[in-house]
Amino acid sequence: MRDSFVVYSLSRAHASFRVICTSRPLTFDWRTKQGAAGFPSGLSLRVEDSLREAINHDESLTSNAESIQSGEDGFASAIGSPSGSNYNTPMSFMTHLESAIDGTKLPADQVQTMHNDRPLWVRYDLEAVRKAVKPADFAARPPTLWRYRELLPIRGEDSIVTLGEGVTPILPVSNLGAELGLEDLWIKDESQLPTSSFKSRGMALAVSMARQFGLKRLVTPTAGNAGGALAAYGARAGMEVYIFMPADTPTSIQRECVQAGAKVYLVDGLIGDCGRIAREGIEPMGWFDMATLKEPYRIEGKKTMGLELAEQLGWELPDVILYPTGGGTGLIGMWKAFGELRELGWLQSETLPRMIAVQSDGCAPIVRAFEAGQRFAEPWPDPVTTAWGVRVPSAIGDFMMLDALRESNGDAVAVPEDAIAPMMMQASALEGIPFCPEAAACIVAAKTMAKDGRIEPHQRTVIFNTCSAMKYQDGAAMDLPTLAGDAPVDYTRL
Ligand SMILES: Cc1ncc(COP(=O)(O)O)c(C=O)c1O
Repeated sequence: MRDSFVVYSLSRAHASFRVICTSRPLTFDWRTKQGAAGFPSGLSLRVEDSLREAINHDESLTSNAESIQSGEDGFASAIGSPSGSNYNTPMSFMTHLESAIDGTKLPADQVQTMHNDRPLWVRYDLEAVRKAVKPADFAARPPTLWRYRELLPIRGEDSIVTLGEGVTPILPVSNLGAELGLEDLWIKDESQLPTSSFKSRGMALAVSMARQFGLKRLVTPTAGNAGGALAAYGARAGMEVYIFMPADTPTSIQRECVQAGAKVYLVDGLIGDCGRIAREGIEPMGWFDMATLKEPYRIEGKKTMGLELAEQLGWELPDVILYPTGGGTGLIGMWKAFGELRELGWLQSETLPRMIAVQSDGCAPIVRAFEAGQRFAEPWPDPVTTAWGVRVPSAIGDFMMLDALRESNGDAVAVPEDAIAPMMMQASALEGIPFCPEAAACIVAAKTMAKDGRIEPHQRTVIFNTCSAMKYQDGAAMDLPTLAGDAPVDYTRL
């Protein structure tokens, strides 16, 4: 019998591994006698040979080793690690960074922020990626965003800061679809990530890169969820985190950040004011600014939404994607993912999805610029919305969002603010998914677009539930009927 093993690297430095037999119930930890010197990365064969030798000679193995010996006829199967590393290829195929505004090339592997006050793209050697990995390979790796490591910027396993970012479900929603008049409607439920929001993807990457560069003090302004994610990943990495958020940010998020050990300050103002305070503190405080698009790697984390969606749908992309749009990393990251997948030749579908940016009519700078045919958006003067994540009156990545919308033949929709809360309740009751207000705005937009024919009933449509409704619970009691604990109940009146 030929056994299969997955070998997880516990510590590359000490050449210690966790070996899991996938064909029989058997797991053990193993450290090589020769230490790291015997393990130049990049050679899975060495791992296999050494493993075979260790099993034959190393008395430190558990008694389970006996059963391995009896099945020793070849160990050459899956060799992996938490990120899916198989030592056959480098972690990342990143080549350089590139200014999104004027194409200037900048070196990778150095701390970078922006160029001419505008964001940077991370670029990869896609030709080499195509040779090194095939779409089917991803399925054999652990189900986390790190499975796409060739298309991510992390150079080494040791830099990864993870809270176990699992693949989020893509759920068909026929009850909601019937309500909207859409026959092929799906929800990508990002509420199931660590910190209950898609912001974990971006911060997992950005904090891991901060670790790679040895950065220790991080700061961010936040509309809410990005702060929660930075607090969590920063804590995990043992870094100091400072967060500035508008004073009316839901108290649940304030608490989330404090609980994760961040230094949290409320600002009597808007996110732009928070951004100014963070920016002006960089020099005196020695902070690194993790604000949306001010460092290059949060986009790469968000990109995994697009990679994951493609993989889950058999590399066939949907017709339409509706995305709640604030600072824009989600929309921009996903569109970047689709571009890379197309260049890699991995997509089954000939066309890319139409990207629909959704905002509230209480704060819709991107919609206004899209409709006016502008590439840069004027700041929205007086933003008012309870879809906190899209309360972003001005974004430095405005042109990147607007380019993505136009390249995709997409659209930008502002929904009535007062339609968001009722849709949150209605949609959650129809499907049991804890829709956040930002996703509810997308559902309102989908309904409008289905009605006026901009989305046809048969078109495959995906809406992102970017966080859990539970993130915005302020702890106030609900006005629910209350029963006496010791009195009979009149069930006919319930
Ligand atoms: C729940 C939620 N949805 C959407 C957004 C908008 O995200 P992006 O910055 O990617 O446009 C945010 C941002 O804070 C958010 O928290």
